[in-house]
Amino acid sequence: MSKNIDWSNIGFGYMETDKRFVSNYKDGAWDQGALVSDATVTISECACVLQYAQTCFEGLKAYTTEDGHIVCFRPDLNASRMSDTCKRLEMPVFPEDRFVQAVADVVKANADYVPPFGSGATLYIRPYMFGSNAVIGVKPADEYQFRIFTTPVGPYFKGGAKPIVIRVSDFDRAAPHGTGHIKAGLNYAMSLHAIVDAHNQGYAENMYLDAATHTKVEETGGANFIFITKDGKLVTPKSDSILPSITRRSLMVVAEKYLGMTVEHREVYFDEVKDFAECGLCGTAAVISPVGKIDDHGKEICFPSGMDDMGPVTKKLYDTLTGIQMGKIEAPEGWIHVIQ
Ligand code: PLP
Ligand code: COI
Repeated sequence: MSKNIDWSNIGFGYMETDKRFVSNYKDGAWDQGALVSDATVTISECACVLQYAQTCFEGLKAYTTEDGHIVCFRPDLNASRMSDTCKRLEMPVFPEDRFVQAVADVVKANADYVPPFGSGATLYIRPYMFGSNAVIGVKPADEYQFRIFTTPVGPYFKGGAKPIVIRVSDFDRAAPHGTGHIKAGLNYAMSLHAIVDAHNQGYAENMYLDAATHTKVEETGGANFIFITKDGKLVTPKSDSILPSITRRSLMVVAEKYLGMTVEHREVYFDEVKDFAECGLCGTAAVISPVGKIDDHGKEICFPSGMDDMGPVTKKLYDTLTGIQMGKIEAPEGWIHVIQ
C-alpha cells in the first residue's frame, strides 16, 4: 500500500523510510550485508570519514511505471561509477552485481514509498560508503561501511520545470587531474560555500568553468550541462574533470537514436554559450532543469527559450527520457531494471 503522502507537493528533501541496506568491510572482505531499521550510524570519533572526508556516494531513482511495476534506471552504471570512485579514493569496491542487488532489495523493502505513476515524485536512492575506523595519520581506513537509503523526492529546483537563473562562479570546482570525475563527498563539501553564496545572491546554481583557463564550461554543483544550437543540435561539454553523468550519457542516445538529432560531445567554450538556443542542467536529481539566464558578472546571457517554459527541444528530450524511465516509451536494451 502506497503511503499517504502528498506526492505532488514534496521537494527534494530527506524523509526517513523503513529500511536501509548496510554492509561492513573488515579484514579485507565485505560481510553479507542486511536490511536494517536503524537510520543512524555509530562510528569512532576518529573515523577516516570524519577526519579526512573519505566518503563517496551515488544517486539513482526508482519509478512506478504506467502498468504498475517498480523499476530503476541503469543501476549498473551507478555500480560501475562507484567502483571508479572507490579506486580513486583508496576505498574497497563493493562488487557491482551485489550493488545492483542491494539497490533492488532496499527499494523492494520500501516499496510503499515509491511514488505512484504520474505523481511527479520518485524514490531517490542514495548508495554511499565511508571509512569507518579510527585513522589519525593521513592514510586510508581499513574498515568501511556501505549503505543504501531511499527517500521520496520531488523536483530538485523549486518551481519544477520552470527555467532557473544561474551565475558563472569565481570558485573552481575541480582541478585538472583532481577528483571532479568521481562522486567523492569532498567535491560537494568544497562547493557548499559557492552554493550558499549563489543562493544568497538569488541564483539557483553555479556554472563552473575549467580551473586551468576559466574559458571552458564544466558543470554545476550537481548536474552536467546540455545546450541546443539554433539549428537543433545537442552540444554537451567533454572534460576529464566533470562527473560522467548517466543522465547526460542517456540523453546523448535519446537525442541521436530517438529524436534523430546530431550530438556533439566536445569542449565547450564559454564564449559560445551566448549563441545557443536552449540550455539545461541534467542529472538524476535535476532530471532536465531548463536554464533561462546565465549571469556572467553582471553580463546576462538570456536564452531565446525565455523564463516561462522549457525550450521546445529540451522539452522533447525531457519527455522522451522520462517516458523511457516510466515505461511509456520502449527503452534501449538493458536500461530498465524491473524490481517488482
Ligand atoms: N554532475 C554532478 C557534479 C553530480 O553530482 C551529478 C549527480 O549525480 C551529475 C553531474 C549528474 O549525474 P547523473 O546523471 O549520473 O545523476
Ligand atoms: C544526483 O543527481 O543524484 C546527485 O547526486 C546530485 C546531488 C547534488 C543531489
